[in-house]
Amino acid sequence: MKQFNVTLAIAVLATFSLKFCDAQNISDTARKWWKEAIIYQLYPRSFKDSDGDGIGDLKGITSKLDYLRSLGITAIWLNPIYSSPNDDNGYDVSDYRSIMKDFGTMADFDSLLSGMHRRGIKLVMDLVVNHSSDEHEWFKQSRSSRSNPYRNYYHWWNAENGKPPYRFSLFDINHDAWKYDSLTNAYYLHYFSKKQPDLNWENPKLRSEVYDIMKFWSKKGIDGFRLDAFQFAAKDTTWPSFPVGFEKNFVKYYAMQGNIHGYLREMNEQVLSKFDVMSVAEGAGNSFEDAHNLVDANRHELEIAYAFDAVDIAKQGGYSLLHLKEVFSRWDSAFAESGWLSVFLANHDQARLVSRFGNDSEPFRTLSSKMLTTFIMTMRGTAFYYNGDELGMTNAGFKNISDYKDMPLLNEYQHQQALHTDLNVFLQKAAFESRDNSRTPFQWDASANSGFTSGTPWLKINSNYKTINVASQQKDPNSPLNYFRRITALRASNPVLVYGKYEILDKTNPDVYAYTRELNNTRWLILLNFRAVPSTYSIPFGIASGTLMSCNYTKASLNGQLRPYEASVYKLTK
Ligand code: NOJ
Repeated sequence: MKQFNVTLAIAVLATFSLKFCDAQNISDTARKWWKEAIIYQLYPRSFKDSDGDGIGDLKGITSKLDYLRSLGITAIWLNPIYSSPNDDNGYDVSDYRSIMKDFGTMADFDSLLSGMHRRGIKLVMDLVVNHSSDEHEWFKQSRSSRSNPYRNYYHWWNAENGKPPYRFSLFDINHDAWKYDSLTNAYYLHYFSKKQPDLNWENPKLRSEVYDIMKFWSKKGIDGFRLDAFQFAAKDTTWPSFPVGFEKNFVKYYAMQGNIHGYLREMNEQVLSKFDVMSVAEGAGNSFEDAHNLVDANRHELEIAYAFDAVDIAKQGGYSLLHLKEVFSRWDSAFAESGWLSVFLANHDQARLVSRFGNDSEPFRTLSSKMLTTFIMTMRGTAFYYNGDELGMTNAGFKNISDYKDMPLLNEYQHQQALHTDLNVFLQKAAFESRDNSRTPFQWDASANSGFTSGTPWLKINSNYKTINVASQQKDPNSPLNYFRRITALRASNPVLVYGKYEILDKTNPDVYAYTRELNNTRWLILLNFRAVPSTYSIPFGIASGTLMSCNYTKASLNGQLRPYEASVYKLTK
């Protein structure tokens, strides 16, 4: 307790005095709220249920706004909340201007938004316009006849022309992205599930409908859009055949095709530039050039790139820290002068942060989750942090297929069943990497159903909720939750952690990630041990005279050693 107070006092004092001197030399044009934002990703279905139907909802989120405020986050990215038949938990939108019944009403949305704004929290909405639901009115019209005015809102291939060139579908049971529809004797395209037909961005009418939708939400006062799967929105509609084996490289052959940049410039001109809204692209193509083409300020397209190279590294059986360091360093250097990146290691499509990148067995769970949090909050780029990771929530690791709810996983299970592969191997893999791992209900307290719902939760609650929950962590000054609050405060008050130049130290060290961040006269050092054993490191200067700004132990180690999963952050004397 004593150490906690001392550390906190040091951090508060130091950050207060730095707040002003650090910020001075970053030009006003370079400083942006969305660069400095700490964006908390909130999965509404699993956050808090207010009406006992077992599904999280908007009123539930509103009831927890003070909790969210207490985290020190400055923006929330809300996964889709629009009307949807929920084939893919809201990523299949049937009406872009109304709220999903399970989540509440537009009045609930308005009060959530004003409650957030009153607390200084901005709202980033998920915009799902690579595809809609097959239950959207546009698609119902489109499939009704070949001459319907909405026919060209989607991609159709008339069956009298034979089978269309094969396209891979990520979510389809047979991985076939063309679905035959006997009503008009034609195939429609769906890169995701057959209930998620791809929209035809070549059609100016469709584009203008999307811009109107964006204006509708922007006028409501939201603060940004996260563009779901947008790198796939433009297609090469000459439909060339792809080389054999291409399906393993979905991004290479399907992303950044056609006139994607033309559409983004148009979207920017018609919507993004007219409102105070930020934009983040899900996926960043195949190269740095692709990523720069999306987000360099002078191109007037989008603002933040959200690339998967780093998050994709962790596999069942581990990952190489050297690889992780190399990826983050490469991306940082490619964006040092222009463009802007996000920093994240988890989201609703990935397994849990601590289970994948850290160590979820006690006693290392808390230490490693704080270490990973330290990493995200001390790198250059906008920090994206997934709900529940502030508690060190872990993978649920379901053993039975009947526990899973995620559509692509259930489809793939059927696919593998048909191929007669070993389903035990499939289930073991799923227990580690399934998206349901990160979607289990939020763990508020040790009461029934973790305080998430008074009804039956839509997805099983992680069995560890009695020990890992907000109520117990609130009381413990050294909990991951309280650590998270301290580190967000540190980042928010020290622009060096947002804008400062990044330099990797001890590059070939396979166990320790060491780097500095430097801005004007300020230089910080971050030391992270990614191992469950003590590790050594070597840097070209001493740290004895530096000020310890944060540590996940009661005292930092000196002399080139770090304890298991130690994370120490120093402000150095120059
Ligand atoms: C990416 C989203 O993050 C994911 O959850 C969704 O299933 C696909 N896009 C399809 O919309």
